[in-house]
Amino acid sequence: MSSQAKARIPAGHLPFEMRFIYAALAIALFAGFGIGAHMAFIIGLQMPLHTGFQTYIQLHGHVQLIGWVGLFVMGVSLHVLPRLLSVAISDRLWLHAILACVAGGIALRTVTHSILPYVIGTPYFDALQWLSVLSAILEWLGIYIYLMLVLKLFLVSEPARTRSLKAIRPFFAMQVFGWGVSALLNLGLLVRMASAGAPIAIPAWNQFNVELFIGLVLLPVAFAFSIKMLPLYLRLRGADWSVRSMAAVYFIGFCAQILPQSPLFVQTFSQTSARIVAVGAVVKAIAILYFIYQLDVLTRSKSSWREQVDAKPKEDRRPTRAGLPDYGEFGRFERLISAAYSWLALAALFDVFYAIGDQLGLALPHKFDLVRHLYLVGFITMLILGMAVRMLPGFLGKKRVASTWLVDATFWLGNLAVVCRVLPLIVTFPALNQLATLVRLAEIAFACSGVFGILAIICLAVNLRKTANA
Ligand code: HEM
Repeated sequence: MSSQAKARIPAGHLPFEMRFIYAALAIALFAGFGIGAHMAFIIGLQMPLHTGFQTYIQLHGHVQLIGWVGLFVMGVSLHVLPRLLSVAISDRLWLHAILACVAGGIALRTVTHSILPYVIGTPYFDALQWLSVLSAILEWLGIYIYLMLVLKLFLVSEPARTRSLKAIRPFFAMQVFGWGVSALLNLGLLVRMASAGAPIAIPAWNQFNVELFIGLVLLPVAFAFSIKMLPLYLRLRGADWSVRSMAAVYFIGFCAQILPQSPLFVQTFSQTSARIVAVGAVVKAIAILYFIYQLDVLTRSKSSWREQVDAKPKEDRRPTRAGLPDYGEFGRFERLISAAYSWLALAALFDVFYAIGDQLGLALPHKFDLVRHLYLVGFITMLILGMAVRMLPGFLGKKRVASTWLVDATFWLGNLAVVCRVLPLIVTFPALNQLATLVRLAEIAFACSGVFGILAIICLAVNLRKTANA
Protein backbone atom coordinates (compact mmCIF):
# COMPACT_ATOMS: atom_id res chain seq x y z
CA MET A 1 0.00 0.00 0.00
CA SER A 2 1.32 3.45 -0.92
CA SER A 3 2.19 5.89 1.88
CA GLN A 4 -0.49 8.21 0.45
CA ALA A 5 -3.11 5.48 0.82
CA LYS A 6 -1.88 4.66 4.35
CA ALA A 7 -2.24 8.28 5.35
CA ARG A 8 -5.98 8.12 4.49
CA ILE A 9 -6.69 5.32 7.01
CA PRO A 10 -8.42 6.83 10.07
CA ALA A 11 -6.30 6.53 13.22
CA GLY A 12 -6.64 3.16 14.93
CA HIS A 13 -8.54 1.48 12.09
CA LEU A 14 -7.15 -1.43 10.10
CA PRO A 15 -6.64 -0.97 6.34
CA PHE A 16 -9.11 -2.65 4.00
CA GLU A 17 -8.55 -6.41 3.79
CA MET A 18 -8.72 -6.84 0.01
CA ARG A 19 -8.01 -10.55 0.30
CA PHE A 20 -11.69 -11.15 1.19
CA ILE A 21 -12.60 -9.74 -2.21
CA TYR A 22 -9.89 -11.65 -4.07
CA ALA A 23 -10.98 -14.87 -2.35
CA ALA A 24 -14.65 -14.18 -3.25
CA LEU A 25 -13.71 -13.51 -6.89
CA ALA A 26 -11.50 -16.62 -7.12
CA ILE A 27 -14.23 -18.83 -5.63
CA ALA A 28 -16.83 -17.30 -7.97
CA LEU A 29 -14.66 -17.86 -11.03
CA PHE A 30 -13.15 -21.25 -10.37
CA ALA A 31 -15.99 -22.87 -8.45
CA GLY A 32 -19.35 -21.01 -8.30
CA PHE A 33 -19.82 -19.59 -11.79
CA GLY A 34 -17.54 -22.27 -13.26
CA ILE A 35 -19.73 -25.14 -12.05
CA GLY A 36 -22.88 -23.11 -12.87
CA ALA A 37 -21.68 -22.61 -16.45
CA HIS A 38 -20.89 -26.31 -16.80
CA MET A 39 -24.37 -27.29 -15.54
CA ALA A 40 -26.07 -24.70 -17.75
CA PHE A 41 -24.32 -26.16 -20.81
CA ILE A 42 -25.43 -29.67 -19.91
CA ILE A 43 -29.05 -28.63 -19.28
CA GLY A 44 -29.27 -26.15 -22.18
CA LEU A 45 -27.75 -28.49 -24.75
CA GLN A 46 -29.84 -31.42 -23.46
CA MET A 47 -26.87 -33.61 -22.63
CA PRO A 48 -27.38 -36.63 -20.34
CA LEU A 49 -27.19 -35.70 -16.66
CA HIS A 50 -24.32 -37.61 -15.03
CA THR A 51 -24.70 -39.34 -11.66
CA GLY A 52 -23.09 -36.55 -9.70
CA PHE A 53 -25.33 -33.80 -11.06
CA GLN A 54 -27.30 -33.25 -7.85
CA THR A 55 -24.05 -33.05 -5.84
CA TYR A 56 -22.82 -30.37 -8.25
CA ILE A 57 -26.06 -28.38 -7.96
CA GLN A 58 -25.71 -28.32 -4.17
CA LEU A 59 -22.01 -27.51 -4.41
CA HIS A 60 -22.63 -24.65 -6.86
CA GLY A 61 -25.39 -23.17 -4.68
CA HIS A 62 -23.33 -23.38 -1.50
CA VAL A 63 -20.10 -21.89 -2.85
CA GLN A 64 -21.97 -19.07 -4.59
CA LEU A 65 -23.88 -18.15 -1.45
CA ILE A 66 -21.10 -18.42 1.15
CA GLY A 67 -18.00 -18.06 -1.01
CA TRP A 68 -18.92 -15.46 -3.63
CA VAL A 69 -21.53 -13.32 -1.86
CA GLY A 70 -20.76 -14.22 1.77
CA LEU A 71 -17.05 -13.42 1.65
CA PHE A 72 -17.74 -10.18 -0.20
CA VAL A 73 -20.26 -9.14 2.46
CA MET A 74 -17.86 -10.09 5.26
CA GLY A 75 -14.92 -8.18 3.77
CA VAL A 76 -16.94 -5.00 3.19
CA SER A 77 -18.83 -5.09 6.50
CA LEU A 78 -15.64 -5.65 8.52
CA HIS A 79 -14.33 -2.45 6.96
CA VAL A 80 -17.46 -0.30 7.05
CA LEU A 81 -18.99 -1.25 10.42
CA PRO A 82 -15.96 -0.29 12.59
CA ARG A 83 -15.95 3.13 10.91
CA LEU A 84 -19.71 3.65 11.21
CA LEU A 85 -19.59 2.62 14.87
CA SER A 86 -16.27 4.36 15.59
CA VAL A 87 -14.77 1.20 17.09
CA ALA A 88 -11.55 -0.22 15.67
CA ILE A 89 -11.03 -3.97 15.35
CA SER A 90 -8.20 -4.55 17.81
CA ASP A 91 -6.28 -7.27 16.03
CA ARG A 92 -5.85 -8.13 12.37
CA LEU A 93 -5.53 -11.75 13.40
CA TRP A 94 -9.33 -11.97 13.66
CA LEU A 95 -9.67 -11.05 10.00
CA HIS A 96 -7.03 -13.62 9.03
CA ALA A 97 -8.84 -16.28 11.05
CA ILE A 98 -12.25 -15.54 9.46
CA LEU A 99 -10.83 -15.53 5.95
CA ALA A 100 -8.76 -18.69 6.47
CA CYS A 101 -11.69 -20.62 7.97
CA VAL A 102 -14.40 -19.58 5.48
CA ALA A 103 -12.28 -19.61 2.30
CA GLY A 104 -10.46 -22.79 3.46
CA GLY A 105 -13.81 -24.46 4.24
CA ILE A 106 -15.22 -23.56 0.82
CA ALA A 107 -12.04 -24.80 -0.94
CA LEU A 108 -12.16 -28.10 0.96
CA ARG A 109 -15.84 -28.56 0.18
CA THR A 110 -15.26 -27.81 -3.51
CA VAL A 111 -12.54 -30.45 -3.74
CA THR A 112 -14.34 -33.13 -1.74
CA HIS A 113 -17.77 -32.69 -3.36
CA SER A 114 -16.28 -32.57 -6.86
CA ILE A 115 -14.78 -36.03 -6.34
CA LEU A 116 -17.50 -37.64 -4.18
CA PRO A 117 -19.87 -38.82 -6.96
CA TYR A 118 -17.01 -40.59 -8.74
CA VAL A 119 -15.83 -42.67 -5.78
CA ILE A 120 -19.13 -44.03 -4.47
CA GLY A 121 -18.57 -47.57 -3.21
CA THR A 122 -14.81 -47.16 -2.80
CA PRO A 123 -12.90 -46.68 0.50
CA TYR A 124 -12.20 -43.04 -0.48
CA PHE A 125 -15.89 -42.16 -0.25
CA ASP A 126 -16.06 -42.24 3.57
CA ALA A 127 -12.82 -40.30 3.97
CA LEU A 128 -14.00 -37.60 1.56
CA GLN A 129 -17.34 -37.30 3.32
CA TRP A 130 -15.72 -36.69 6.69
CA LEU A 131 -13.41 -34.18 5.05
CA SER A 132 -16.49 -32.38 3.80
CA VAL A 133 -17.79 -32.36 7.41
CA LEU A 134 -14.48 -30.72 8.32
CA SER A 135 -15.17 -28.08 5.66
CA ALA A 136 -18.52 -27.28 7.33
CA ILE A 137 -16.80 -27.06 10.75
CA LEU A 138 -14.29 -24.59 9.31
CA GLU A 139 -17.04 -22.49 7.74
CA TRP A 140 -19.04 -22.53 10.96
CA LEU A 141 -15.97 -21.43 12.95
CA GLY A 142 -15.22 -18.57 10.53
CA ILE A 143 -18.84 -17.41 10.61
CA TYR A 144 -18.94 -17.68 14.41
CA ILE A 145 -15.83 -15.48 14.78
CA TYR A 146 -17.30 -13.01 12.27
CA LEU A 147 -20.59 -12.76 14.16
CA MET A 148 -18.85 -12.37 17.53
CA LEU A 149 -16.69 -9.60 16.10
CA VAL A 150 -19.68 -7.75 14.63
CA LEU A 151 -21.71 -8.11 17.84
CA LYS A 152 -18.76 -6.87 19.90
CA LEU A 153 -18.50 -3.77 17.67
CA PHE A 154 -22.14 -2.97 18.38
CA LEU A 155 -21.81 -3.66 22.11
CA VAL A 156 -18.75 -1.50 22.76
CA SER A 157 -19.81 1.33 20.48
CA GLU A 158 -21.10 4.54 22.03
CA PRO A 159 -24.93 4.71 22.22
CA ALA A 160 -24.98 7.82 20.00
CA ARG A 161 -23.21 5.85 17.26
CA THR A 162 -25.49 2.81 17.45
CA ARG A 163 -28.48 5.16 17.45
CA SER A 164 -27.31 6.52 14.10
CA LEU A 165 -27.77 2.97 12.74
CA LYS A 166 -31.21 2.62 14.35
CA ALA A 167 -33.04 2.45 11.02
CA ILE A 168 -31.02 -0.50 9.75
CA ARG A 169 -30.57 -2.43 13.00
CA PRO A 170 -33.47 -4.83 12.24
CA PHE A 171 -31.67 -5.86 9.04
CA PHE A 172 -28.48 -6.55 11.02
CA ALA A 173 -30.43 -8.58 13.56
CA MET A 174 -31.92 -10.71 10.74
CA GLN A 175 -28.46 -11.12 9.24
CA VAL A 176 -26.84 -12.29 12.47
CA PHE A 177 -29.66 -14.78 13.07
CA GLY A 178 -29.56 -15.98 9.44
CA TRP A 179 -25.79 -16.53 9.35
CA GLY A 180 -25.86 -18.40 12.68
CA VAL A 181 -28.75 -20.74 11.86
CA SER A 182 -27.60 -21.36 8.30
CA ALA A 183 -24.02 -22.30 9.28
CA LEU A 184 -25.29 -24.71 11.95
CA LEU A 185 -27.81 -26.25 9.57
CA ASN A 186 -25.11 -26.72 6.94
CA LEU A 187 -22.92 -28.51 9.50
CA GLY A 188 -25.82 -30.69 10.63
CA LEU A 189 -26.71 -31.59 7.04
CA LEU A 190 -23.16 -32.65 6.19
CA VAL A 191 -22.82 -34.72 9.39
CA ARG A 192 -26.10 -36.43 8.50
CA MET A 193 -24.94 -36.96 4.91
CA ALA A 194 -21.66 -38.53 6.08
CA SER A 195 -23.29 -40.78 8.66
CA ALA A 196 -25.92 -41.94 6.13
CA GLY A 197 -23.25 -42.55 3.45
CA ALA A 198 -25.19 -40.39 0.95
CA PRO A 199 -23.60 -38.29 -1.84
CA ILE A 200 -25.94 -35.32 -1.27
CA ALA A 201 -27.43 -33.44 1.68
CA ILE A 202 -31.15 -34.07 2.31
CA PRO A 203 -32.68 -32.06 -0.59
CA ALA A 204 -35.66 -30.58 1.32
CA TRP A 205 -33.49 -29.29 4.18
CA ASN A 206 -30.84 -28.08 1.77
CA GLN A 207 -33.48 -26.07 -0.15
CA PHE A 208 -34.75 -24.68 3.14
CA ASN A 209 -31.25 -23.56 4.09
CA VAL A 210 -30.77 -21.85 0.72
CA GLU A 211 -34.07 -19.93 1.07
CA LEU A 212 -33.22 -19.03 4.67
CA PHE A 213 -29.83 -17.63 3.68
CA ILE A 214 -31.29 -15.57 0.83
CA GLY A 215 -34.18 -14.21 2.89
CA LEU A 216 -32.48 -13.61 6.22
CA VAL A 217 -28.90 -12.78 5.22
CA LEU A 218 -28.52 -11.61 1.63
CA LEU A 219 -31.61 -9.45 1.12
CA PRO A 220 -31.42 -7.77 4.57
CA VAL A 221 -27.71 -7.03 4.20
CA ALA A 222 -28.28 -5.61 0.70
CA PHE A 223 -31.09 -3.41 2.07
CA ALA A 224 -28.95 -2.19 4.98
CA PHE A 225 -25.98 -1.31 2.78
CA SER A 226 -28.22 0.32 0.18
CA ILE A 227 -29.80 2.57 2.79
CA LYS A 228 -26.43 3.58 4.20
CA MET A 229 -24.40 3.94 1.00
CA LEU A 230 -26.68 4.65 -1.97
CA PRO A 231 -27.89 8.08 -0.83
CA LEU A 232 -24.22 9.17 -0.82
CA TYR A 233 -23.17 7.46 -4.03
CA LEU A 234 -26.30 8.30 -6.05
CA ARG A 235 -27.45 11.45 -4.27
CA LEU A 236 -30.74 9.86 -3.19
CA ARG A 237 -32.99 10.77 -0.30
CA GLY A 238 -31.87 9.88 3.25
CA ALA A 239 -33.46 7.20 5.42
CA ASP A 240 -36.17 9.56 6.72
CA TRP A 241 -38.96 7.09 6.08
CA SER A 242 -40.33 4.11 8.04
CA VAL A 243 -37.46 1.69 7.37
CA ARG A 244 -38.04 -0.28 10.57
CA SER A 245 -41.71 -0.87 9.78
CA MET A 246 -40.76 -2.04 6.29
CA ALA A 247 -38.20 -4.42 7.87
CA ALA A 248 -40.87 -5.81 10.22
CA VAL A 249 -43.36 -6.36 7.37
CA TYR A 250 -40.64 -8.01 5.26
CA PHE A 251 -39.70 -10.34 8.13
CA ILE A 252 -43.32 -11.34 8.81
CA GLY A 253 -43.93 -11.97 5.08
CA PHE A 254 -40.73 -13.98 4.76
CA CYS A 255 -41.53 -16.17 7.81
CA ALA A 256 -45.10 -16.77 6.60
CA GLN A 257 -43.79 -17.77 3.18
CA ILE A 258 -40.96 -20.06 4.26
CA LEU A 259 -41.97 -21.69 7.56
CA PRO A 260 -45.01 -23.71 6.37
CA GLN A 261 -42.82 -25.06 3.53
CA SER A 262 -40.02 -26.14 5.87
CA PRO A 263 -39.43 -29.89 6.21
CA LEU A 264 -40.53 -29.60 9.86
CA PHE A 265 -44.12 -28.79 8.86
CA VAL A 266 -44.32 -30.56 5.53
CA GLN A 267 -46.30 -33.47 7.04
CA THR A 268 -49.03 -31.08 8.16
CA PHE A 269 -49.01 -28.98 4.96
CA SER A 270 -52.63 -28.26 4.04
CA GLN A 271 -54.73 -25.89 1.99
CA THR A 272 -54.47 -23.40 4.86
CA SER A 273 -50.65 -23.66 4.85
CA ALA A 274 -50.67 -23.01 1.09
CA ARG A 275 -52.75 -19.90 1.70
CA ILE A 276 -50.36 -18.68 4.41
CA VAL A 277 -47.42 -19.21 2.00
CA ALA A 278 -49.20 -17.19 -0.71
CA VAL A 279 -50.10 -14.37 1.68
CA GLY A 280 -46.49 -14.38 2.96
CA ALA A 281 -45.15 -14.06 -0.61
CA VAL A 282 -47.48 -11.13 -1.30
CA VAL A 283 -46.60 -9.36 1.98
CA LYS A 284 -42.85 -9.85 1.36
CA ALA A 285 -43.20 -8.56 -2.21
CA ILE A 286 -45.13 -5.49 -1.04
CA ALA A 287 -42.37 -4.74 1.50
CA ILE A 288 -39.66 -5.09 -1.18
CA LEU A 289 -41.51 -2.92 -3.71
CA TYR A 290 -42.17 -0.32 -1.02
CA PHE A 291 -38.46 -0.38 -0.18
CA ILE A 292 -37.49 0.22 -3.82
CA TYR A 293 -40.01 3.05 -4.06
CA GLN A 294 -38.82 4.75 -0.87
CA LEU A 295 -35.15 4.32 -1.71
CA ASP A 296 -36.00 6.20 -4.89
CA VAL A 297 -33.26 4.43 -6.81
CA LEU A 298 -35.43 3.75 -9.87
CA THR A 299 -37.92 6.60 -9.62
CA ARG A 300 -35.63 9.46 -8.52
CA SER A 301 -38.65 11.59 -7.78
CA LYS A 302 -37.73 12.77 -4.26
CA SER A 303 -35.33 15.45 -3.12
CA SER A 304 -31.87 14.15 -2.25
CA TRP A 305 -30.41 14.07 1.27
CA ARG A 306 -28.30 17.12 0.32
CA GLU A 307 -31.35 19.17 -0.49
CA GLN A 308 -33.02 17.87 2.67
CA VAL A 309 -30.15 19.16 4.85
CA ASP A 310 -29.83 22.20 2.59
CA ALA A 311 -26.14 21.51 1.87
CA LYS A 312 -25.05 23.76 -0.98
CA PRO A 313 -22.09 22.78 -3.18
CA LYS A 314 -19.06 25.07 -3.01
CA GLU A 315 -19.36 27.66 -5.75
CA ASP A 316 -15.88 27.08 -7.16
CA ARG A 317 -16.44 23.30 -7.38
CA ARG A 318 -16.25 21.65 -10.81
CA PRO A 319 -19.77 20.48 -11.83
CA THR A 320 -20.36 16.79 -11.20
CA ARG A 321 -22.35 14.41 -13.41
CA ALA A 322 -26.03 15.32 -13.64
CA GLY A 323 -27.80 14.22 -10.44
CA LEU A 324 -24.71 12.40 -9.15
CA PRO A 325 -21.90 13.44 -6.82
CA ASP A 326 -18.97 12.15 -8.95
CA TYR A 327 -17.20 13.14 -12.16
CA GLY A 328 -17.43 9.75 -13.83
CA GLU A 329 -14.22 8.44 -12.27
CA PHE A 330 -16.02 5.23 -11.19
CA GLY A 331 -17.56 4.63 -14.60
CA ARG A 332 -21.30 4.42 -15.08
CA PHE A 333 -21.68 2.20 -11.99
CA GLU A 334 -25.16 3.61 -11.35
CA ARG A 335 -26.49 1.61 -14.30
CA LEU A 336 -25.47 -1.63 -12.54
CA ILE A 337 -27.28 -0.54 -9.39
CA SER A 338 -30.43 0.50 -11.27
CA ALA A 339 -30.37 -2.83 -13.14
CA ALA A 340 -29.99 -4.68 -9.82
CA TYR A 341 -33.06 -2.96 -8.39
CA SER A 342 -35.07 -3.55 -11.57
CA TRP A 343 -34.29 -7.27 -11.32
CA LEU A 344 -35.25 -7.19 -7.64
CA ALA A 345 -38.66 -5.71 -8.49
CA LEU A 346 -39.16 -8.44 -11.10
CA ALA A 347 -38.13 -11.12 -8.56
CA ALA A 348 -40.70 -9.86 -6.06
CA LEU A 349 -43.41 -9.87 -8.76
CA PHE A 350 -42.51 -13.40 -9.86
CA ASP A 351 -42.66 -14.55 -6.22
CA VAL A 352 -46.27 -13.33 -6.14
CA PHE A 353 -47.00 -14.76 -9.60
CA TYR A 354 -45.94 -18.26 -8.49
CA ALA A 355 -47.83 -17.93 -5.19
CA ILE A 356 -51.04 -17.02 -7.05
CA GLY A 357 -50.35 -19.78 -9.60
CA ASP A 358 -50.13 -22.30 -6.71
CA GLN A 359 -53.42 -21.05 -5.31
CA LEU A 360 -55.09 -21.48 -8.69
CA GLY A 361 -53.71 -25.01 -8.94
CA LEU A 362 -51.45 -24.19 -11.90
CA ALA A 363 -48.26 -26.26 -11.76
CA LEU A 364 -45.90 -23.63 -13.20
CA PRO A 365 -42.38 -24.94 -13.88
CA HIS A 366 -39.07 -23.75 -12.32
CA LYS A 367 -40.79 -22.22 -9.34
CA PHE A 368 -37.72 -21.97 -7.10
CA ASP A 369 -35.02 -21.77 -9.76
CA LEU A 370 -36.40 -18.75 -11.60
CA VAL A 371 -37.17 -16.55 -8.60
CA ARG A 372 -33.98 -17.60 -6.82
CA HIS A 373 -31.72 -16.63 -9.73
CA LEU A 374 -33.58 -13.34 -10.19
CA TYR A 375 -32.70 -12.54 -6.58
CA LEU A 376 -29.18 -13.98 -6.70
CA VAL A 377 -27.80 -13.13 -10.13
CA GLY A 378 -30.16 -10.27 -11.00
CA PHE A 379 -30.20 -8.40 -7.71
CA ILE A 380 -27.37 -9.50 -5.42
CA THR A 381 -24.66 -10.14 -8.02
CA MET A 382 -25.48 -7.01 -10.07
CA LEU A 383 -25.50 -4.95 -6.87
CA ILE A 384 -22.07 -6.32 -5.94
CA LEU A 385 -20.76 -5.55 -9.44
CA GLY A 386 -22.01 -1.95 -9.12
CA MET A 387 -21.06 -1.32 -5.49
CA ALA A 388 -17.60 -2.87 -5.88
CA VAL A 389 -16.38 -0.41 -8.51
CA ARG A 390 -17.86 2.57 -6.64
CA MET A 391 -16.87 1.63 -3.11
CA LEU A 392 -13.65 -0.37 -3.16
CA PRO A 393 -11.35 2.21 -4.84
CA GLY A 394 -12.01 4.53 -1.87
CA PHE A 395 -11.38 1.70 0.62
CA LEU A 396 -8.03 1.15 -1.11
CA GLY A 397 -7.13 4.83 -0.90
CA LYS A 398 -7.65 5.37 -4.66
CA LYS A 399 -9.62 8.16 -6.22
CA ARG A 400 -10.90 6.31 -9.27
CA VAL A 401 -11.47 2.93 -10.79
CA ALA A 402 -8.75 1.75 -13.20
CA SER A 403 -11.03 1.29 -16.23
CA THR A 404 -14.43 2.86 -16.81
CA TRP A 405 -14.62 0.80 -20.00
CA LEU A 406 -14.53 -2.41 -17.93
CA VAL A 407 -17.41 -1.07 -15.80
CA ASP A 408 -19.50 -0.79 -18.97
CA ALA A 409 -18.45 -4.29 -20.02
CA THR A 410 -19.49 -5.61 -16.58
CA PHE A 411 -22.89 -3.97 -17.00
CA TRP A 412 -23.59 -5.59 -20.38
CA LEU A 413 -22.17 -9.01 -19.52
CA GLY A 414 -23.86 -9.12 -16.12
CA ASN A 415 -27.24 -8.28 -17.61
CA LEU A 416 -26.74 -10.78 -20.42
CA ALA A 417 -26.00 -13.44 -17.80
CA VAL A 418 -29.27 -12.65 -15.97
CA VAL A 419 -31.35 -12.49 -19.15
CA CYS A 420 -29.96 -15.80 -20.42
CA ARG A 421 -30.14 -17.54 -17.02
CA VAL A 422 -33.69 -16.49 -16.17
CA LEU A 423 -35.81 -15.56 -19.20
CA PRO A 424 -35.42 -18.93 -21.00
CA LEU A 425 -37.20 -20.54 -18.05
CA ILE A 426 -40.33 -18.53 -18.89
CA VAL A 427 -40.34 -20.14 -22.32
CA THR A 428 -41.07 -23.49 -20.67
CA PHE A 429 -44.43 -22.16 -19.39
CA PRO A 430 -47.49 -23.74 -21.01
CA ALA A 431 -48.49 -21.95 -24.29
CA LEU A 432 -44.96 -20.64 -24.92
CA ASN A 433 -43.38 -24.11 -24.93
CA GLN A 434 -45.26 -24.94 -28.17
CA LEU A 435 -43.10 -22.52 -30.17
CA ALA A 436 -40.24 -24.78 -31.28
CA THR A 437 -37.86 -22.05 -32.55
CA LEU A 438 -38.34 -19.98 -29.40
CA VAL A 439 -37.66 -23.03 -27.23
CA ARG A 440 -34.44 -23.83 -29.16
CA LEU A 441 -33.23 -20.23 -28.86
CA ALA A 442 -34.03 -20.24 -25.15
CA GLU A 443 -32.03 -23.44 -24.67
CA ILE A 444 -28.99 -21.96 -26.39
CA ALA A 445 -29.26 -18.74 -24.38
CA PHE A 446 -29.52 -20.76 -21.17
CA ALA A 447 -26.45 -22.78 -22.13
CA CYS A 448 -24.43 -19.56 -22.58
CA SER A 449 -25.62 -17.84 -19.38
CA GLY A 450 -22.78 -19.10 -17.20
CA VAL A 451 -20.14 -17.98 -19.69
CA PHE A 452 -21.53 -14.43 -19.60
CA GLY A 453 -21.48 -14.60 -15.81
CA ILE A 454 -17.84 -15.71 -15.81
CA LEU A 455 -16.88 -12.91 -18.23
CA ALA A 456 -18.61 -10.31 -16.03
CA ILE A 457 -16.68 -11.55 -12.98
CA ILE A 458 -13.39 -11.52 -14.95
CA CYS A 459 -14.02 -7.88 -15.94
CA LEU A 460 -14.63 -6.94 -12.30
CA ALA A 461 -11.59 -8.90 -11.09
CA VAL A 462 -9.25 -7.31 -13.67
CA ASN A 463 -10.62 -3.85 -12.92
CA LEU A 464 -10.20 -4.22 -9.16
CA ARG A 465 -6.72 -5.69 -9.47
CA LYS A 466 -5.63 -2.84 -11.75
CA THR A 467 -7.21 -0.31 -9.38
CA ALA A 468 -5.42 -1.81 -6.36
CA ASN A 469 -2.07 -1.78 -8.17
CA ALA A 470 -2.46 1.71 -9.67
C1 HEM B 1 -25.18 -17.06 -14.73
C2 HEM B 1 -24.70 -17.70 -13.71
C3 HEM B 1 -25.33 -18.94 -13.11
C4 HEM B 1 -25.66 -20.12 -13.71
C5 HEM B 1 -25.44 -20.49 -15.17
C6 HEM B 1 -26.27 -20.97 -12.72
C7 HEM B 1 -26.73 -22.24 -12.95
C8 HEM B 1 -27.44 -23.00 -12.03
C9 HEM B 1 -28.06 -24.26 -12.32
C10 HEM B 1 -28.06 -24.95 -13.68
C11 HEM B 1 -28.66 -24.69 -11.19
C12 HEM B 1 -29.47 -25.97 -11.01
C13 HEM B 1 -30.90 -25.65 -11.27
C14 HEM B 1 -31.81 -26.82 -11.07
O1 HEM B 1 -31.98 -27.23 -9.91
O2 HEM B 1 -32.35 -27.28 -12.06
C15 HEM B 1 -28.42 -23.70 -10.16
C16 HEM B 1 -28.86 -23.78 -8.86
C17 HEM B 1 -28.54 -22.88 -7.89
N1 HEM B 1 -27.81 -21.70 -8.06
FE1 HEM B 1 -27.06 -20.97 -9.78
N2 HEM B 1 -26.29 -20.29 -11.53
C18 HEM B 1 -25.71 -19.06 -11.72
C19 HEM B 1 -25.53 -18.07 -10.78
C20 HEM B 1 -25.78 -18.22 -9.44
C21 HEM B 1 -25.46 -17.26 -8.44
C22 HEM B 1 -24.74 -15.93 -8.68
C23 HEM B 1 -25.88 -17.77 -7.25
C24 HEM B 1 -25.77 -17.21 -5.87
C25 HEM B 1 -25.26 -16.06 -5.55
C26 HEM B 1 -26.49 -19.07 -7.52
C27 HEM B 1 -27.06 -19.90 -6.58
C28 HEM B 1 -27.71 -21.07 -6.85
C29 HEM B 1 -28.41 -21.85 -5.85
C30 HEM B 1 -28.52 -21.49 -4.37
C31 HEM B 1 -28.91 -22.98 -6.50
C32 HEM B 1 -29.71 -24.13 -5.86
C33 HEM B 1 -28.75 -25.12 -5.22
C34 HEM B 1 -29.47 -26.28 -4.56
O3 HEM B 1 -30.53 -26.68 -5.01
O4 HEM B 1 -28.89 -26.78 -3.59
N3 HEM B 1 -26.41 -19.30 -8.87
N4 HEM B 1 -27.68 -22.69 -10.71
